[in-house]
Amino acid sequence: MTQVASKQLQPVYDKPMVYYPLSTLLENGINELALISTPQDLPRFRELLGTGNQWGASIEYLEQPKPEGIAQAFIIAQNFIGSDSVTLILGDNIFYGAGQFDKAFAEHEAGATIFAYRVNDPTRYGVVEFGDMGKAISIEEKPKNPKSSYAVPGLYLFDSRVTKIAKGLKPSSRGELEITDIMSDYMNQGTLKVNLLRRGVAWLDSGTSQSLHESAAFVQTMEKRQGIKMGCPEEAALTAGLISLAEFDRAVDGLPNCEYRDYLREISAENHRLPQQSLS
Ligand code: G1P
Repeated sequence: MTQVASKQLQPVYDKPMVYYPLSTLLENGINELALISTPQDLPRFRELLGTGNQWGASIEYLEQPKPEGIAQAFIIAQNFIGSDSVTLILGDNIFYGAGQFDKAFAEHEAGATIFAYRVNDPTRYGVVEFGDMGKAISIEEKPKNPKSSYAVPGLYLFDSRVTKIAKGLKPSSRGELEITDIMSDYMNQGTLKVNLLRRGVAWLDSGTSQSLHESAAFVQTMEKRQGIKMGCPEEAALTAGLISLAEFDRAVDGLPNCEYRDYLREISAENHRLPQQSLS
C-alpha cells in the first residue's frame, strides 16, 4: 500500500490521514509547523499542504533520509525548534473529543507532557507504568509483557532540551532512536507529566491495515451521525481563530469541486448566520 505514497497520504475515510493530526495541532493554536518525511514523499506532502498560509500557518518541510526513529525528529528539526518548546504529533494518530488537550497545552512550561490512554493491546505501543499518585515509573516501547494497559499516544510536548537529549540517545535493538527513551530521560529528571486521556476521548492510530479500516469506520460513523466532519484543517484553523471567516471562504473557494468543499461551504453559511463561532 505504501510503495508509491506514504501511509500518511492514504485516505482515512474521506480525507488524507495527515489531515487529522494536522487539524489537532491547528485546533490547539499550533501554527508554526515542520513536517518530517522521507525525501521521496516530501514533495507530495508539499503539493498537498503547501505553505500552510491558507490555514494561518507556516509549514517547513524537513527530510528524514532513513527510518532511524521518531526521536531523530528533534535532531532534524533542531533549527526549527531553537529555544522554544515543541509539540510532536505522529502522522497516523487520530484524536477525537472536544477540548481534550486544552489544559495540558495551557499548563505546559518546562519538562515534558505526555498522555496515557487505556487500550486492550498495549504491546503495540509505548507503555507507561504508574507508581503511587499517578507518577510514571517506567516507559517501555512495545513490551512483550506490558506493565500496564496504558499506552502513550503519539502527541508529546517537550521543552527545547529535547534536542540535546535526542542527540545523546543510542539506537535501540531495532536500530532506531526511540521516543520512549526521550520520555524516560525526562522521567528520570523528575520533569515528566502524564495526563490521562478521559474515557470520552477517542484515540486511534491508523498504522496497520486493520486499524486503518477501523479508523475509517469510526470517522464515517461520527460524521454520518452528526453531519460534522473530523480532521478538516480549514475548520480547525477557523475554530482556533487562526483565520477569519473571510480567509476561510477564500481557502474553501480554492478547493476543487468535491464533497469536502460542499461541507465547508455549509460550515461557512452556518457561521455567517451565527452571532459568533460556536461550532467547536
Ligand atoms: C509509535 C511510538 C509508540 C507510540 C505509538 C503511538 O509507535 O514508538 O511509543 O505509542 O507510536 O501511535 P509506531 O506506531 O510508530 O510503531
